[in-house]
Amino acid sequence: MAVAPVTYGASERPPRGDYSRARSDYTCEQDWDTYTAAEHALYARLFQRQLRQLPGQACDEFVHALGPMDIGRAIPRFEDISDALRRSTRWEIVAVPGLIPEHAFFSLLAGRRFPVTVWLRRPEEFDYIVEPDVFHDLFGHVPLLFNPVFADYMQAFGVGGLKAEGLHALEYLARLYWYTVEFGLISTPGGLRAYGAGILSSAGETVYSLTSHKPQRLSFSLERVLRTPYKIDDYQDSYFVIDSFAQLFDATAPDFTPIYQRVGSAPELPINGRLPGERLYAPNAPVAAVPSTS
Ligand code: PHE
Ligand code: FE
Repeated sequence: MAVAPVTYGASERPPRGDYSRARSDYTCEQDWDTYTAAEHALYARLFQRQLRQLPGQACDEFVHALGPMDIGRAIPRFEDISDALRRSTRWEIVAVPGLIPEHAFFSLLAGRRFPVTVWLRRPEEFDYIVEPDVFHDLFGHVPLLFNPVFADYMQAFGVGGLKAEGLHALEYLARLYWYTVEFGLISTPGGLRAYGAGILSSAGETVYSLTSHKPQRLSFSLERVLRTPYKIDDYQDSYFVIDSFAQLFDATAPDFTPIYQRVGSAPELPINGRLPGERLYAPNAPVAAVPSTS
């Protein structure tokens, strides 16, 4: 699970993290030398568990990118990942103390810089964490930044976020972030696969989102998503399925200004509701249980 950075401000408690180290754009030094051996080991356990979950569950683009990233034995140095990313899609990652305000977040994305939280969860948060930590941000978000289409989508999102701020439409754009970047599913000839970072950094939600009969899985439709609120404290009730990253990019390319107006005057949809004519995707067949090491 993860809280999208765009929900910063809605939370009741201050974000975790040492903000005294941040520059005015909210970036900071990673200070890699300050991670303890226990933290590196915890990161490696999180990484290895999730890696085993990927076959048949994560989309191919994600799996392919993760291989060369080779970030599984210890918390990586962000600079090493940035070197590879710059060569691949002209993105880089930057260290931040934790959740950052929307404006800072979108400004970084617009400049093809993805903010990664420096701190790691505590051992008792192995299975569940309410705020994004270095594992969620790196394992969940960074692989798809190696995909050219998704990389461009993320930059467009940053530009769109800055624009939505001026239009007081961030609430709607946050829903798009949530149902794609964090909890998106993609349809493939082999069945449904996950691409959202909130799913792929969570052992429980990876299986739930793809195979449980409880949630509904609907075709991605832009205005539909903008009208659908979401839960931040439990597995999702609805997932939206794209056919390709190109479809997602094209569907979100038009000017949102008139769309925000339409959506703002239409009623919100219930989180688990269905519109007339909407068809559901069937869940995947259950996958064989993955052995646990924890
Ligand atoms: N096309 C959107 C706009 O004009 C920007 C955007 C692109 C938002 C991609 C999200 C994702 O506001
Ligand atoms: Fe996230």
